[in-house]
Amino acid sequence: MPVITNIDDLKRLYQRRVPRMFYDYCESGSWTEQTFRENTTDFDQIRLRQRVAMDMTGRSTASQMIGQDVAMPVALAPVGLTGMQHADGEIKAARAAEKFGVPYTLSTMSICSIEDVAEHTSKPFWLQVYTLKDDDFMQRLFDRAKDAKCSAAVITVDLQLLGQRHKDLKNGLSAPPKLTVKSVSNMMTKVQWGLGMLGTKRRFFGNIVGHAKGVKDPSSLGDWTNESFDQALDWDRIREFRKMWDGPLIIKGILDAEDAKQALNVGADAIIVSNHGGRQLDGALSSIKSLPAIMDAVGDKIEVHLDSGIRSGQDVLKALSMGAKGTYIGRAYIYGLGAMGEAGVTKSLEVIHKELELSMGLCGVRSVENLSRDNLLIPQGFEGRWQD
Ligand code: GLV
Repeated sequence: MPVITNIDDLKRLYQRRVPRMFYDYCESGSWTEQTFRENTTDFDQIRLRQRVAMDMTGRSTASQMIGQDVAMPVALAPVGLTGMQHADGEIKAARAAEKFGVPYTLSTMSICSIEDVAEHTSKPFWLQVYTLKDDDFMQRLFDRAKDAKCSAAVITVDLQLLGQRHKDLKNGLSAPPKLTVKSVSNMMTKVQWGLGMLGTKRRFFGNIVGHAKGVKDPSSLGDWTNESFDQALDWDRIREFRKMWDGPLIIKGILDAEDAKQALNVGADAIIVSNHGGRQLDGALSSIKSLPAIMDAVGDKIEVHLDSGIRSGQDVLKALSMGAKGTYIGRAYIYGLGAMGEAGVTKSLEVIHKELELSMGLCGVRSVENLSRDNLLIPQGFEGRWQD
C-alpha cells in the first residue's frame, strides 16, 4: 500500500479502483469545464501570509457550523450516486464523518436511503434536498428527514436543469450501471469494487425508487431530473419548503449577491456559495471568487459557507480567512471512498485536517475562529468588478 500524504494520492488510487463511468461522473464539469478548472486554480492565486516567532502551541480547528459543534469546519458535501463509488458508500462516508466529528450531508440522489443511513449511524446527519414538482414527495422527504432525526436540510437551488457533462452521456451513466460490452469489460478490471457491489443490495436510488410516483426510469439521472425536477422553482416555492421543514435550513448553490439577499429573506440559517463543483453553468465564476461580493452583501446577516474547488486544508484556510464560516469537500472524500472505503474517507479528512492546522500555525494563528483576511495576500483585481 503506498504512503498516502495528500488528496492526489487518494485520487490516483480511486482512478484505478472504480469503474470509469463513476470516475467520470465525479471528475467532470459541465461543457468545456472552465468553471470546474477555475474552482481549483483560483484558490492557487491567493497566497498565505507567513508569520514567525508567534506562539503556535495549542492549535485548534474546532468550531461551529449552524450552531453545531464541528471538529473542523469542513463538512462532507452531498454527492449523488455515492453508493456507486463504493458499495454502501453513503453509510461508509457518514460513519467516517461522525467518527471525525464533521457533518455528513446525504444527497437526495443517494443509493443508500435516508432510513438506511440513519439505521447505520448514531449521530444526526444533514439531508440535501432537491426540489421536485411532486408536492407529496417533497413533504414526505422532509417528514422522512425529521423521522431520521436529520439536524439540517440543505436545499439545492442551482439544479432545476441538469448541466451537460459530455462523458456521462457518452458513458450512458446510470445506477445500477447498464451492462454493455464497454461497461462490463471495464468493470471486470475493478475486482474489489465488483465484489463489494455483488455483496450489497443497495444499488438503486434509495430515496426515489418506491417513493416518487411516475418516474419512468429512475436509474437514469438525466431522465429523472428532466421528468421530475421543478424548472419553475422560485423563491415563493422555496418559502413553502421553509414551512414544510422547521429545522435548521441551509440554501446551497448561491453565486450571486442578489440571490444571497433572496436566500436571507427566506429565513435560511446559512447559505452555501457554490457552483455545484463546476457541474452546472460552465462559464460561471469560481466559488472562491464569488465569495467576497456575497460576504459584502449578506456576510453580517447570515452564516456563509463555501464549496466547489476545495482539495486541501490550505484551500479551507483561504475560504475561512475570506469570511466563510464553514466549507464542504465533495470530490476530495469521494476519492478516498473509492480508493479505500470508510478508511479512505477518514484518510481524506485526516489529510485536510493536518494541512489546515499546520498551515494555520505557520500563519501565526492558533484557532480557525481567529482567521481573517489579514492572513491572506490576495492579488489586485482578484475579485474583479463582477457585480457592476
Ligand atoms: C448532481 O447533483 C450532480 O451534480 O450530478
